[in-house]
Amino acid sequence: MSEDDYDYLFKIVIIGDSSVGKSNLLSRFTNDEFNLESKSTIGVEFATKNIKIGDHVIKAQIWDTSGQERYRAITGAYYRGAFGALLVYDITRPSSFQNIEHWLKELRDHSDEKISLMLVGNKVDLAESRAVSTEEAKEYATDSEMLFFETSALDATNVDAAFKTVFERIY
Ligand code: GTP
Ligand code: MG
Repeated sequence: MSEDDYDYLFKIVIIGDSSVGKSNLLSRFTNDEFNLESKSTIGVEFATKNIKIGDHVIKAQIWDTSGQERYRAITGAYYRGAFGALLVYDITRPSSFQNIEHWLKELRDHSDEKISLMLVGNKVDLAESRAVSTEEAKEYATDSEMLFFETSALDATNVDAAFKTVFERIY
């Protein structure tokens, strides 16, 4: 399958606090790569991957920026044209879960109302350090009309499933 052989192109964005694992989720999904010592993202990066949904090939274009204000991309341009968003927190860091409210607000201020949203609790490989329960996060996702997955970019748990589910929902 050639890179340019696709039926639809859909942009999605990844947002969430710094170091929750956004860039590693992206590299795991698009290149099956993980980096234990990754540096904070500066500006915007994006990667693409062709995925098959039903009888069609979707070109998934995934945008990633820093969770740190000083390294972030221009907000309006980042969200423009996005069909979906992954809102990521770290299951070992409750503040990153509480800040999802902030990310949701920014998203709603800058994106289309019909954008498909997914809450992602990353780093489930660190089960012994878990500080946000699955039940609490699931309930929050339901109340805010978001899909929900718990993932690990490190061991690849649910990474494909989370991205594919967002693109299926858009499609
Ligand atoms: P910013 O670009 O600063 O916003 O951070 P980010 O959200 O892109 O985080 P990044 O992917 O750079 O990961 C931050 C740190 O967490 C790195 O040391 C990663 O190796 C680590 N990390 C990412 N995902 C996982 C995971 O699923 N499990 C574990 N144990 N560590 C992870
Ligand atoms: Mg990053």
